[in-house]
Amino acid sequence: MRALVVGTGGREHALALALSRDPAVTEVHAAPGNPGIGAVAALHEVDPADPAAVAALATRLEVDLVVVGPEAPLVAGVADAVTDAGIACFGPSRAAARLEGSKAFAKEVMAAAGVPTARSWVCSTPAEVGEALDLAGAPYVVKDDALAAGKGVVVTTDRDEALAHAATCGTVVVEEFLDGPEVSLFAICDGTSTHPLQPAQDFKRIHDGGRGPNTGGMGSYSPLPWAPPDLAEVVVATVVQPTLDEMARRATPFRGCLYVGLALTAAGPRVIEFNVRFGDPDVQPVLALLDSSLGELLLAAAEGRLGDVDAPRFRDEAAVSVVLASAGYPESSSKGDPVTGVEAADARADVDVVHAGTALGPDGLVTAGGRVLAVRATGADVAAARAAAYAAAEEISFPGMQRRSDIAAEPLGVVEGASVTG
Ligand code: AMP
Ligand code: GLY
Repeated sequence: MRALVVGTGGREHALALALSRDPAVTEVHAAPGNPGIGAVAALHEVDPADPAAVAALATRLEVDLVVVGPEAPLVAGVADAVTDAGIACFGPSRAAARLEGSKAFAKEVMAAAGVPTARSWVCSTPAEVGEALDLAGAPYVVKDDALAAGKGVVVTTDRDEALAHAATCGTVVVEEFLDGPEVSLFAICDGTSTHPLQPAQDFKRIHDGGRGPNTGGMGSYSPLPWAPPDLAEVVVATVVQPTLDEMARRATPFRGCLYVGLALTAAGPRVIEFNVRFGDPDVQPVLALLDSSLGELLLAAAEGRLGDVDAPRFRDEAAVSVVLASAGYPESSSKGDPVTGVEAADARADVDVVHAGTALGPDGLVTAGGRVLAVRATGADVAAARAAAYAAAEEISFPGMQRRSDIAAEPLGVVEGASVTG
């Protein structure tokens, strides 16, 4: 099959790499991609959030499958346009993408489906926010209702900081604090049924020890040796299937990746958030270990016939991704700084350098975003994969580079879930 990956970041690079290594996939294209993706796919200068342009490209290339990486194109209706053009699209319709596009909508669906999640209050005035904070109690969790690229959430013990964050947003969702390690579970969905992937963990804070502000993710690993072995099964039964049933009942069936962000609390798994696409960098280690065809899995989901393919298989190893971020991230980012050492790191056995925010300048690779690269390695277990990822990361440098030193260091993982600022 021929596949087109839509998007430009680390997730899209990891997807393009996996598709390029899949014997069932003969050609990989990307729109617009990045310099790393260009090594494994043909790049096309098309705006990923322009539904008509993406559908026209997919038609022209005669691809069998479009895989939409980021949320913004999905919320803009790219999957609808591609499907209307008669091409299979992995990624939900605009209507189903509201599960990520609006946190208030996601909460409403969870309530209707009986999905276990934090108690929450939707607020649009400072007075409502104040009341909700008092009902919820500290630590306070305040979320921007709109898409905020992973940066719309503040978790703090400082009531004034919580109020100040709410004041910078429009509508906010105030939530009860969920205490426990965080897990990412990616469920491949075809509208009615699902195959979960292997769980992963994402280190979201900028600094070691889970300190500093939330980011889009500073590193990840999979599998989670400490997690209950039936975790994916339990989450499918209590979260994914009820959500699919509720979305189908509303005539907006969910096709694509339902990314379930969970806190494993003392009372059991609770949903922190839904996203409607793979998480980055959390999906990187999962894809590195996938031992069955990604192309066939995503195509079957897009065509509503997941029952035709076997459940995905994973190699009995581990994988770790360590993110290299630019100066100023997550508040800002630095562009145009020269990056060295990528080829040497990428040439190591069992290592992939995943490009997130890079560009080609006149003298070679430069930074072009907050998260610049991720160094991903596989190994016999988490410790071996971690050692290989850090050894390869040592080869790479650019001015102002930020990197956590404790990704996957504590396999017990009870690190970020309970961390708060203030
Ligand atoms: P979100 O964008 O909803 O995933 O939130 C970003 C991060 O904030 C999560 O990964 C958690 O670390 C934290 N967070 C969000 N909601 C809660 C909650 N109810 N309780 C504790 N931490 C939370
Ligand atoms: N790693 C978090 C996300 O992709 O939203």
